Amino acid sequence: MKPLISPSLLSADFAYLARDIEMLNESASDLVHLDIMDGVFVPNISFGFPVIKSVKKYSKKPLDVHLMIVHPEKFIQELQEIGIKYMTVHYEACLHLHRVVQQIREAGMSPGVSINPATPIAMLKDILPEIDLVLLMSVNPGFGGQAFIPHSLQRMKELKELRDQTGSKALIEVDGGINLETGFQMIEAGADILVAGSAIFSAPNPLQMIQDMKNLK
Ligand code: DX5
Ligand code: ZN
Repeated sequence: MKPLISPSLLSADFAYLARDIEMLNESASDLVHLDIMDGVFVPNISFGFPVIKSVKKYSKKPLDVHLMIVHPEKFIQELQEIGIKYMTVHYEACLHLHRVVQQIREAGMSPGVSINPATPIAMLKDILPEIDLVLLMSVNPGFGGQAFIPHSLQRMKELKELRDQTGSKALIEVDGGINLETGFQMIEAGADILVAGSAIFSAPNPLQMIQDMKNLK
């Protein structure tokens, strides 16, 4: 199966967001990745619901929302009303992860769980059968343009094995420092979805870069 590509809007030019969304509409990308940061769970603040709502208005691609915030369960209704596809919360941010996942599904969205580079993969064993997407962070969340952490390759293999063992149907997404080289390695190791921000938006031809990522397999 060809990988799915989810360009991260964090690296877009926010002053020309409509232009960048139109570019993505014309591209081979499958999803649009939106990074929400609260300055508490991660040391940065990005954008919030008014922006997600505007993106939804213009995007022809389903929205893949990555919440790097504490208490993501507070915002299930907002995201449901906007009409997003994937609502991904962090394992490290949810005391009652199973409940949050259930609530996301009851709201009609596809639940995703993301895991930081220092959290053991094994912690996902019991939640994997309950979710549609698992997001492996290959950088510490909070900023675009960081270098891929090489150990993520081993973690991807472990995650794929655990997913298959548990009978989970969750798609495996990887986020952070993904370019053609690390993207290829991660697909070989088990990734179904590549998130890429700077590699796409800093490329001389973002449309071509998305197509090249799509053709990695
Ligand atoms: C980082 C975000 C990523 C970020 C990726 O915390 O979750 O989605 O936009 O950016 P790159 O691809 O530049 O590492
Ligand atoms: Zn992200």
